[in-house]
Amino acid sequence: MTRRRTRIGIIGAGPAGLVLGHLLARAGIDTVVLERHSRHYVEHRIRAGILEFGVARLLRETGLGGRVDTVGFRHDGTNLLFDGRLHRIDFAGLTGRHVMLWSQHEVVRDLIAARIEAGLPLEFEAEALSVEGIDGNRPAIHYRAGGEDHVLDCDIVAACDGFHGIGRASMPPGLIREYDRVYPFGWLGILADAPPSKDELIYANHPNGFALLSMRSEQVSRLYIQCDAEADLDQWSDQRIWDELAIRLDHPGFSLQTGKVTQKGITPMRSYVAEPMQAGRLFLAGDAAHIVPPTGAKGLNAAIADAVVLAEAIGAWARGDSRLLERYSETCLDRIWKVERFSWWMTSMMHKFDDHTGFDRRMQHAELDYYTSSTAGQTALAENYVGLPFGAGP
Ligand code: FAD
Ligand code: PHB
Repeated sequence: MTRRRTRIGIIGAGPAGLVLGHLLARAGIDTVVLERHSRHYVEHRIRAGILEFGVARLLRETGLGGRVDTVGFRHDGTNLLFDGRLHRIDFAGLTGRHVMLWSQHEVVRDLIAARIEAGLPLEFEAEALSVEGIDGNRPAIHYRAGGEDHVLDCDIVAACDGFHGIGRASMPPGLIREYDRVYPFGWLGILADAPPSKDELIYANHPNGFALLSMRSEQVSRLYIQCDAEADLDQWSDQRIWDELAIRLDHPGFSLQTGKVTQKGITPMRSYVAEPMQAGRLFLAGDAAHIVPPTGAKGLNAAIADAVVLAEAIGAWARGDSRLLERYSETCLDRIWKVERFSWWMTSMMHKFDDHTGFDRRMQHAELDYYTSSTAGQTALAENYVGLPFGAGP
C-alpha cells in the first residue's frame, strides 16, 4: 500500500473532473485525478456533441480553444420539424450567441493532453473504492491501481465520477434527497460515415416518434431515433434505422444521406437530481449529482458548469474565504433545476408518449406551434439552448 497527499483529490477523468483539475492548476492548486478506465477508453467514449456558448468561451479563455474553432463547427441556430415543416430557431439573431458542435471525447482528449503536457498527476486504471474522513479536514480516497491498494490524503475530495461512481454513495447516510423521472423510451444513436444531410441540427417530432439529425464532421453524421426503453439492438438492423430516419426526418427538399454505420447504442432517458451536492469536505460535480435526458444537449455542459463553480469556490477557500464553498451546492442547484426543466420540457415536447390522450397530443402540438412561431417562445428556447450563465464569468 502507498500513501501520498495532495490538496484536491479528484475522482473521475470525465469533463467535470478534468475541467476542475485544469482550472485549479491555473490557480496554482495541486490536484490528483484518479480515473477507473484506461486513457484509450475515455478518449473514445462517444457521448455529447454540443458545447454551449459559455462553455466554448471558457475553453478558449483557458487555452483549450484551438481545435474547438478549427475543427469544430459554429451553429447559429437549430431546427424543429413537425407536421413535415421545418422551423429554424435563430440563436444568433435572438440572443447574439451560438453553440459549437464539438464532441465530448474531443474535449476530454484536449484536457488530458494539456494535463499530461503540464506534468500534472492523472492516474488511469485507478479505481476509487471509498472516501473516508469527510467530516474532518483530512479526507482520504482509498483506491486500487496496478493490483494494489493506495491512499490519497487530501484537503478536499471532488467526486466527478459520473452517475455510477462512488462519490454520491459516500455522502453521509440519510443526507441525500433524490428527485427522479424515468422516461418510457430510449434513444437509439448511430454514428455513420455519411455527410450531414443538413448544416444544422434537426429535432423532429413525428407520429412514429422523435428523431435527431446531428453530425461530427463533414463526413460523419450522428443520428438518433426514439425507441422502446426495453429495445434490443438486434431488433434494429441498419436498414431499419435508415428507413425510420428517412420517414421521421422527411420534409420538402430534404434528402437523407446514408452510409456505413460505425457505432450503434441505446441511451436510457432519465432526469435525476441529488440534493445537497456537498457534505463536509466532499463535493459532487456533474453526473455524480444530476443527469438529464439528452434532448436539450445539456449533460456535458452542466457538468462543466459545476466544475467552474467548484473551482472558483476552492480558489477563494485557498485564499482564506470559505463562503463560496459553503454555498457550492446551493449555487449549482439553482442553475441545475433550470437546466433540468429545459431538458424535461424539450423531451416532453419532442417525443411520442404512448399514454398521451387526444388532449395531450393537441397540447403538445400547440406548444410546438407557439415555441416556433412567437418571438417570445423562440427566444426562451434559444436562451436556454445556448446556455444560462454560470460561475462568476461575464
Ligand atoms: P462522466 O463523463 O461520466 O465522467 C465520470 C468519470 O468518472 C468516468 O470517466 C468514469 O470512468 C470515472 N469513474 C467512475 N467511477 C469511478 C471510480 N470509482 N474511480 C475512478 N473513476 C471513476 N449528454 C448530452 O448533452 N448529449 C448527449 O448526446 C449525451 N449522450 C450520452 C450518451 C451516453 C451513453 C451517456 C452515458 C451520457 C450521455 N450524455 C449526453 C451525458 C453526458 O455525456 C454527461 O452528462 C457527461 O459525460 C457528464 O460528465 P461527468 O464528468 O460528470 O461524468
Ligand atoms: C449529439 O450530437 O450527439 C447531440 C446533439 C444534440 C443533442 C443530443 C446529442 O440534443
